[in-house]
Amino acid sequence: MIIEGKKMLTNSNELLSPLTLAQLLLARGDLVAIPTETVYGLAANALNAQAVAKIFEVKKRPTFDPLIVHTYSVEQLARYAHSIPDEAYKLAEVLMPGALTLLLPKQAHIPDIVTAGLPTVGLRIPKHPLALELLHGLDFPLAAPSANPFGYISPTTAEHVRAQLGDAIAMVLDGGACSIGVESTIVGFPNGEPTILRFGGISLEEIESILGMVVKTFTHSVSNPSAPGMLASHYAPKKPFYVTTSGNLEAFSKGFLQKYAPEKIGVLAFKAGLAHIPAENQLILSPTADLNEAAQQLFGAMRRLDNLPVRIILAEFVPQNGLGRAINDRLQRASV
Ligand code: TXA
Ligand code: MG
Repeated sequence: MIIEGKKMLTNSNELLSPLTLAQLLLARGDLVAIPTETVYGLAANALNAQAVAKIFEVKKRPTFDPLIVHTYSVEQLARYAHSIPDEAYKLAEVLMPGALTLLLPKQAHIPDIVTAGLPTVGLRIPKHPLALELLHGLDFPLAAPSANPFGYISPTTAEHVRAQLGDAIAMVLDGGACSIGVESTIVGFPNGEPTILRFGGISLEEIESILGMVVKTFTHSVSNPSAPGMLASHYAPKKPFYVTTSGNLEAFSKGFLQKYAPEKIGVLAFKAGLAHIPAENQLILSPTADLNEAAQQLFGAMRRLDNLPVRIILAEFVPQNGLGRAINDRLQRASV
């Protein structure tokens, strides 16, 4: 079998499954976009510095921004990290596989390019069955950031990835729409204390109930150079994006209607749209006010609005509990 760029030639009638093809491409140092339950990742062999360098190139990502390393079981964590705190194992035992990333002291064999020279590595075990099967079949872990150009909204379908990075990567492994829809929750242990560094697919409440303690959060950008992923400009659509408090969309929109015609305004609403804006310009995250559904819909809705012929996008925050914290965080970062 010969794989040349995106062309795959097999001798005789040999049929390769997409999973096997992805494994072959990754083993030879190519990039493959992979499904996870949070968002699609742009994956490379985490132990191959040259392969990892391609991720930064394709995403146009600054090399000071470290990558998450993906593996398939809790036992594997100690292969890539050392001095793992008890609290990390407590979380791992309940939440891995799942939408959790643990920042742990890295083992020396993880290349510095993966962690941007930091002494810690972000480790995650995705729950998506195809991602787990893929990882099980490899003898190396996968470094994978979200599969979007740096600074843009994370992809939650294979189509989102193809639309932006399709020409630059060997393959997109299609695993359907991501079931959670926002990135993993990142927990680190600065000074030995469990601390949430990015709100994501696992709620603060769940982490606190597992640890049986109040957990610190330290997720905000400019004041947080140790987690560059928290840059304020992250997750932004191209159109100016304005966000207001929960339930205040109607009043908020009135100010914009003095400057923009209703058909030039896009609306991202939590549970109900606005009467005076055309229905086709409005996306509702969850008519039943379900925060899990809203998270699952969020990035796709932001993309669709960004691609409509509107000039600006108006959005509202959602209740600040459960996955609401992750949603509000992404809305805040997307806003001008
Ligand atoms: O759900 C997810 O976490 C997805 C899927 C593909 O696994 N991945 C993801 O990766 O969101 P990325 O690179 O888009 O965001 C991870 C952020 C990075 O921006 C980085 O700042 C932070 O995690 N991070 C990774 N390793 C770190 C480290 N050692 N110290 C501090 N921050 C770290
Ligand atoms: Mg990202």
